[in-house]
Amino acid sequence: MHHFAYIDGELHADEVSLRQIARQVGTPAYVYSQATLTRHFRAFSQAFAGLDALVCYAVKANTSRAIMALFASLGGGADIVSGGELWRAIAAGVDPGRIVYSGVGKTEAEMEAALKAGILMFNLESIEEMQVLDQVAGNLGLKAPVSFRVNPDVDAQTHPKITTGLAKNKFGLDVELAFAQYQVLAGMPNLEIKGVSCHIGSQLTDVRPFADALERVSVLVERLRAAGIKLEILDLGGGLGITYAQENPPAPDQYAAALAERVRRLDMRLVLEPGRVLVGNAGLLLCQVHYTKQTPVKRFVIVDGAMNDLIRPSFYDSYHAIWPVRQQPGVEPVVADVVGPICETGDYLARDRELPPFRRGDLLAVMSAGAYGFAMSSNYNSRPRAAEVLVNGDRFCVIRARETIEDLVRGERLPEWM
Ligand code: LLP
Repeated sequence: MHHFAYIDGELHADEVSLRQIARQVGTPAYVYSQATLTRHFRAFSQAFAGLDALVCYAVKANTSRAIMALFASLGGGADIVSGGELWRAIAAGVDPGRIVYSGVGKTEAEMEAALKAGILMFNLESIEEMQVLDQVAGNLGLKAPVSFRVNPDVDAQTHPKITTGLAKNKFGLDVELAFAQYQVLAGMPNLEIKGVSCHIGSQLTDVRPFADALERVSVLVERLRAAGIKLEILDLGGGLGITYAQENPPAPDQYAAALAERVRRLDMRLVLEPGRVLVGNAGLLLCQVHYTKQTPVKRFVIVDGAMNDLIRPSFYDSYHAIWPVRQQPGVEPVVADVVGPICETGDYLARDRELPPFRRGDLLAVMSAGAYGFAMSSNYNSRPRAAEVLVNGDRFCVIRARETIEDLVRGERLPEWM
């Protein structure tokens, strides 16, 4: 459910017409709906209301300061994976006591910053990382709150590039190693065991793998408790999928219902790390048609947004619906590829789609682009990154200005010998 809809044949975000945003801000531009973001956050947190749960928004999905601040104001914490995300989350007003820190390659400087900030928990992903964090915490005279990220070896049945909980993936410790290492952890002078964590993948459209992972982690928790290890927090990661095309993912309350009984029996404080499900369908990428082109075998709609703005179609073969900003009732659709100006055959936003017969100057929206859209964008082909706009009712604000040419070359210099 989202708040992008046609009013008198014109696509609006809440009450603001996308044409007006294009006129004032230019294109390409990411447009987010505050009503949708709020609704998604509330639906998710209310689904877990019966449990002692903390929703730590996975900020990697969309690191916009305004969006992080919105979720923080609704009681959310943050799941971070870098010092940059730590800095941004705190700057956006996220309570450090509600931040969990995952990731296989945390640096000593990043650990130090997170320790000084007083985060809730580090999710450790290797033995070496455990040893380094112990040293870093010791040097600061602090105790680091930690969990091991467990890799439960379940198949999330999603795209291979976004599966994280298989034995062959780089993430976490396998269950047996984790069992042994918790005993080691208990003896580390500067680490304090808080709980256990896992995250098995992204864009899951079935509750089954979540329930399987929970079962495996629960068995580990029970074994550890029997061995005298105290565990208070159960972090089940993120991963709940959304509808891009025809997928029918579980609603947050179905997801919560599938986990609740087992979590209650463990009597632990729950942490969840949703990203996509909160922001994915709350954003779109607004583009303008530069040219159309008919070859002997294909029709192309060349727009001003490209793979540097939204890499998901090129990288994961993802489907994003394309909506015209102006509806054209009664016109015959044509089959075309929507492509960007970048010099790569892989630069496309949609392939072989039935679309209205777009013409030069038309506006279109690439839907479901709120998650892993701007956050994964780049300057490839020396393209300044897009503007980001947040709509709230009948108002909108540019929450990130379009980059300029000066931004593109910031930090560059010629060596003195040239
Ligand atoms: N927690 C951890 C430790 C994660 O690694 C991730 C995502 C999440 C939470 C949030 O997962 P979500 O709820 O958003 O599924 N770029 C890819 C997705 C990569 C996800 C990486 N980790 C895409 O565009 O589909």
